[in-house]
Amino acid sequence: MRRLVVVGSITGAPGVTTTALALAATWPAEADGGGRPVVVEADGSGGDLMMRFGLPAAPSLLDVAAAAGKPQPGSLLGAVGELPFGVRAVVAVPGRRPCTEAVRLLATEGGRRVLLGAEGDRGTVLLDAGRLGDDVEPLLRAADQVVLVTRGGADSLTHVSTYGLDAEALAGPLTLAIVGPCPYREDEITASLGIDRAMFLPWDAKAVAAMHRPRRSALRTTGTRAPRLLTATRTLARQLAEHRDGATESQAGENNRQVSVPAAGDGGRPSWARR
Ligand SMILES: Nc1ncnc2c1ncn2[C@@H]1O[C@H](COP(=O)(O)OP(=O)(O)OP(=O)(O)O)[C@@H](O)[C@H]1O
Ligand SMILES: [Mg+2]
Repeated sequence: MRRLVVVGSITGAPGVTTTALALAATWPAEADGGGRPVVVEADGSGGDLMMRFGLPAAPSLLDVAAAAGKPQPGSLLGAVGELPFGVRAVVAVPGRRPCTEAVRLLATEGGRRVLLGAEGDRGTVLLDAGRLGDDVEPLLRAADQVVLVTRGGADSLTHVSTYGLDAEALAGPLTLAIVGPCPYREDEITASLGIDRAMFLPWDAKAVAAMHRPRRSALRTTGTRAPRLLTATRTLARQLAEHRDGATESQAGENNRQVSVPAAGDGGRPSWARR
């Protein structure tokens, strides 16, 4: 079965789509037997990529959702296209209503089967779930890994800590990806949120511009001239890709603690609430 990595946020637009695309662009070539990952734009608020790149209205997320509703769930790969910078993606239509319904279908058993494929299928699905809501919880539970994207200010981190995401209900590890400036240290954040892994992703307008180019153009993803964001997501992608073969589900569960309760500290308050 394919590996499912859900990328989402709690609030705002911190960079979920950008992070998912950058992870796909820097996914280790040796992972998944050399198969490239597929980004599935499963944002119930409606997609951006179709309009951004002037893609046709089909195939799209709606085709994947339609496949999910069939007695014999169809294939994900029929809806996959290629973005100009070389990342494979299933894009969503821009409308909220059809996308909300499509995401609801994806979260059903049939939808999960389309995403994960059959026993012998290999590869990785990077699911851009946008803002996490109740509708995607079954997908969070089915995910091998969850990457929660946030900005690094006290307000954003407080939203994460008060969200009540029950990490114990997740089958695999949770990584907090903090986009842009953040005045707190990684260990301060992980201790306060009671999570194992946080990673900083730089604010990098150059990388974003390269990923927005409408014409086909290769991204520089390795070496000292690679954009900083892509160097960072390469590290994160490697960690995500390495995980599967090692941990069992129960070990994975052990790796996580709920992110809803700040760890003991000054009066039990997270560090950003004390400054
Ligand atoms: N690492 C980054 N460096 C520079 N700009 C970024 C970065 N990540 C995101 N952005 C910018 O922030 C804005 C929001 O990013 P993005 O669309 O990826 O967020 P999102 O969480 O998917 O939002 P939405 O809920 O609208 O789908 C965009 O203008 C994007 O270019
Ligand atoms: Mg988005």
